Amino acid sequence: MSYIIAIDQGTTSSRAIVFDQAGNIVSVGQKEHEQILPKAGWVEHDAAEIWTNVREVVGQALSRANLTRHDIDSVGITNQRETAVVWDRTTGEPVYNAIVWQDTRTQGIVDELAADGGTDRYKDRVGLPLATYFSGTKIKWILDNVEGARERADAGDLMFGTTDSWVLWNLTGGTNGGVHATDVTNASRTLFMNLDSLTWNEEILADFGVPASMMPEIKSSSEVYGHVAGSQLLREVPVAGILGDQQAATFGQAAFKQGEAKNTYGTGCFLIFNTGEEIVHSDNGLLTTVAYKLGENKTVYALEGSIAVAGSLVQWFRDQLGIIASAPEIEELAKKVDDNGGVYIVPAFSGLFAPHWRPEARGAIVGLTRFANKNHMARAALEATAFQTREVLDAVNSDAGVPLTELRVDGGMVENDALMQFQSDILGVPVVRPEIIETTALGAAYAAGLATGFWNDLGELTAKWAEDKRWEPAMDDAERERQMRLWRKAVQRTLDWVD
Ligand code: G3P
Repeated sequence: MSYIIAIDQGTTSSRAIVFDQAGNIVSVGQKEHEQILPKAGWVEHDAAEIWTNVREVVGQALSRANLTRHDIDSVGITNQRETAVVWDRTTGEPVYNAIVWQDTRTQGIVDELAADGGTDRYKDRVGLPLATYFSGTKIKWILDNVEGARERADAGDLMFGTTDSWVLWNLTGGTNGGVHATDVTNASRTLFMNLDSLTWNEEILADFGVPASMMPEIKSSSEVYGHVAGSQLLREVPVAGILGDQQAATFGQAAFKQGEAKNTYGTGCFLIFNTGEEIVHSDNGLLTTVAYKLGENKTVYALEGSIAVAGSLVQWFRDQLGIIASAPEIEELAKKVDDNGGVYIVPAFSGLFAPHWRPEARGAIVGLTRFANKNHMARAALEATAFQTREVLDAVNSDAGVPLTELRVDGGMVENDALMQFQSDILGVPVVRPEIIETTALGAAYAAGLATGFWNDLGELTAKWAEDKRWEPAMDDAERERQMRLWRKAVQRTLDWVD
């Protein structure tokens, strides 16, 4: 058994990636699922479609490498975090579409709960402000709005899970004894988990009207949760690792030490800064979250800067504006101009996340002149991710007290050379890309492999990390500060925009 398979259930697609013992990718299966957008601000996924796709991509990955279950040591799961699935424990049917992390329909619930104690009323216990982003308000919305759901939940008939739990439960047998569990990293994104004891907080659950019986059991990120059920391709293979995708990327980047950080450029963009065994509360708009917990070992915590829109701005250019036909074309356009021509795009589609946490913000394109063309717009779209990352890095540096000296990056957008150079320019520190940029899936594979003894320890994993490319800052300080000043003015416009 010389391989591990990682299932990455992401926001836009589900993937299965087979890794060998050296940490190299052997094969990949991938399938996109539908983004269901019923109204402005609403984003849903069909959980049944996701489960079908997961099975299909596992089959693709195995057959592309000519492997069977006998070659696979274990399964690791990583997932889009916060997205809430509620299903019936007897039929296995979801009671409603999964409500996605980007969905802002629950702002009313947030306001109602914040009326007593403000948006930070639970922050000292769970590390998060009250916001539509996290699973808690999404579960409440389903119980409040789906006919009969609250009664069924109160009767103990419903289960909640983020998509890791949904996949785990189905993989391990579903209505035939599936394991209903999640890991500490995913649990830390619900608004319901005590950061210190890693248990569900009964008082907060009661405030939300969510019965504790719906909640999955909280487990570590690396242990055998169960085995794949008899009817499936991977039958009897242990499922041994679960990490939310951003924490998985941190793990795959081998950022195991306090003070190490990574930034992942995906649908959104997420910077995670390892704070070791210490729970650090941010004064600058960052979240406190669990980085990982390996079996019985001590919990490792992190500060996180979450940016809601990064790669999805490129998708918006493709799908809503039609300026490009495929995502990589954005770089082609951006490279045709030397600068943004004075154009700044602030993609506050779901309000602004870190460090602002302003749900009412709405996107803006500012600085338009007759001179501006689609190339400038493309460049401004890419630069938006870099500017947002700089704001988050400033917050990390203030909270940590010691500035980061370089930033490890991963995710699809780090193939984009122009963006990475600009990122380094605007941060003023080197940006470093590892050889394997599929760090999310790799992190889940690592967690599974540590649990089964496929890999021995963190030292072995650290030794596998290798630098592929480094971008050094080339912009002078005055220009960097001028750009940031204009960016901050552009952000202010989106904050002033209230319907
Ligand atoms: O918190 C949301 C995050 O987990 C989603 O990640 O990679 O699907 O954009 P991604």
